Amino acid sequence: MISKETIDEIYSAAQIEEVVADFVPLKRRGQNWVGVCPFHNDKNPSMYVSPRLGIFNCFVCHTGGNAVNFVMKHEQISYPEALRYLAKKYGINIVEDARSEDLTDEEKLKESLLAVNKFAEQYFIDQLLNTEEGQTVGLSYFKERGFTQQTIEKFKLGYCPDGWDKFTQEALKNGYQLEHLIMTGLTKKSESGKVFDFYRGRVIFPIYDKLGKPVGFGGRILKKDEKTSKYFNSPESPIYHKSNVLYGFYNAQRAIKSQDNVYLVEGYTDVLSMVQAGIENVVATSGTAFPDGQIRLLKSKTNNVTVLRDGDRAGINAALKDINILLGNGFNVSVVMLPDGEDPDSFAQGHRDSEITDYLHDNADSFILFKAKVMAAEAGNDPAKRAAMVKDIIQSIALIQDDITRQLYIKELAKLFGIEEKMLTVELRKNIVKTLKESAKKESGQEVEIHTPAEEKISSNDNSFDENEALYQIEKKVILLILKYGAYEIDAELDEEDGQTKCQLVRLDQYIFNEFSEEEISFRDPLFQKIFEDYAIIASKAQNQDEIKKAFVNHENTGIQQFAIENLLGDEIEISPEWLRRFEVSTDNVNNSIYKLNEEVYKTVLMFKFQLIEQYLHLLKEEMHQDHSDKIIDQILAKYDLLIKRRAEIAKLMELVVAK
Ligand code: CTP
Ligand code: MN
Repeated sequence: MISKETIDEIYSAAQIEEVVADFVPLKRRGQNWVGVCPFHNDKNPSMYVSPRLGIFNCFVCHTGGNAVNFVMKHEQISYPEALRYLAKKYGINIVEDARSEDLTDEEKLKESLLAVNKFAEQYFIDQLLNTEEGQTVGLSYFKERGFTQQTIEKFKLGYCPDGWDKFTQEALKNGYQLEHLIMTGLTKKSESGKVFDFYRGRVIFPIYDKLGKPVGFGGRILKKDEKTSKYFNSPESPIYHKSNVLYGFYNAQRAIKSQDNVYLVEGYTDVLSMVQAGIENVVATSGTAFPDGQIRLLKSKTNNVTVLRDGDRAGINAALKDINILLGNGFNVSVVMLPDGEDPDSFAQGHRDSEITDYLHDNADSFILFKAKVMAAEAGNDPAKRAAMVKDIIQSIALIQDDITRQLYIKELAKLFGIEEKMLTVELRKNIVKTLKESAKKESGQEVEIHTPAEEKISSNDNSFDENEALYQIEKKVILLILKYGAYEIDAELDEEDGQTKCQLVRLDQYIFNEFSEEEISFRDPLFQKIFEDYAIIASKAQNQDEIKKAFVNHENTGIQQFAIENLLGDEIEISPEWLRRFEVSTDNVNNSIYKLNEEVYKTVLMFKFQLIEQYLHLLKEEMHQDHSDKIIDQILAKYDLLIKRRAEIAKLMELVVAK
């Protein structure tokens, strides 16, 4: 466990803008910095970074948090891993508290399994390089396949000696437990209870997670043998989840980031040969169909993928499947077809580096062109088949979430086939609605109505919905007023004991609290109510407005924290253009802004009361339709009357403020 002191030191050293800037280029905007958000597909700088509050927030995808959160999310790592990263960046020495006692059983088990794998990794390397059997059998196999010493070292390839249980015995001798050896899949138990090395007589490809820990192994058989699999792979275990791992990712991640593209190949040797040829942004998917974990790994580095499958029918089919999954996950997808019968490994081994680079460059087709080429060959000149082909491509385009990108591809398709863009767009809309329906059905398990934007406008003419929305907006406004300006002073008319009113300066939060307690108002939205309740305590301890804001952006309630992060950052973009104009023409900025704030507070509080009354009236109206006794009906009517009067008073006050 990292000590509390170290954690505090890391938090105070980490400058949010420096931490983010290591991953995303930032530009200054006012007191904040802005950049293109790495957590969703975007081209505009929607992510704000506030050095003052120590947080970042994206106004489009609503991802936000502090420096530690950013590193965790961006690098897809755990809290302690993020702390270690920042400690390293800021040269902070990590002090650990009494270590293993604090680990949970689960964590202890993971450490033990990892220790076993680290031992095995070294053992297999040693066997390959330093034993006679390893050299003559394993090393010569790798050499025959064209792998250099450098590649072998880079990927830490190894060899597991033939026989029965040489590795297992060595591991046991070194104090590793049989139970752990079995859990990692390195050792197996036969039905008769005899233990043996799973990978015996195979060359070894260690599999690393994104932090470079050996979480699993692939083992390839050396001779052709129909009776057993060409490759053996580690089973799922507490440290190895296939869906979170991509072979080659650990070594490739820098290159993927800097090239802003990743080549997706099938297998171990494809990765090795490509990297050996100088193409480093390569990972292998090993026959998996992109589980979420793998998608997240790729997404953390780039939005652009190039599918590079084998140059045969199976490879084409695989690429067609990949395209739709990847498009649906927001990637820009290109495809490179290899010459018939080649896979990336054989192609890379058979050509000079420059030829490979040129080939990849010259043959990268957009997914549309790739699909068109593949299907055009099959469709020939048959008009029905060609129409089906266009529809098929549109189905892929419909999977793209970004409107603009979708339209660009429709343009490309229209040009390619000489069809009117408008006609394609109609077909596209149909498909989008269909996909939306399907995914909504999948989530809810039942049929759902999806409206296109035009239909939505008509059906949302529902009064109760509008009123609810209006109340929510005004409640939000009240909350934001106190969170942003609570400690500011405004002019307020206060009732004196002698019945007179007197104008004096009061804190904005004080004023709002008074108004609320007088009329016994509470917030309908539970989150706002909770913020309001916590506010008094927080504000009483805070020295200034920034401290109030900081307390809320670091609030223990994640809902409140999220709300604060989203709404308190980048104040200047909240100020209306009108206000800014006033600022410029004013000779006395300070007075002017106070005047504006006064007005804003009165208006907001009045509107809030007005909205509450509207809601109440609405409820009363509904009550009138129920079967109530005459007595109750009388009470309702009396209340109704009272509220109508109060509403009129408030309306008058509102007019006064507006007229001022
Ligand atoms: N694979 C596997 N288990 C198998 C076959 C394949 O895990 N029984 C995975 C491996 O990651 C392998 C990839 O699928 O690298 C592609 O399989 P294949 O094309 O058969 O292997 P190659 O990578 O071409 O291997 P080699 O060149 O060594 O024959
Ligand atoms: Mn191969």
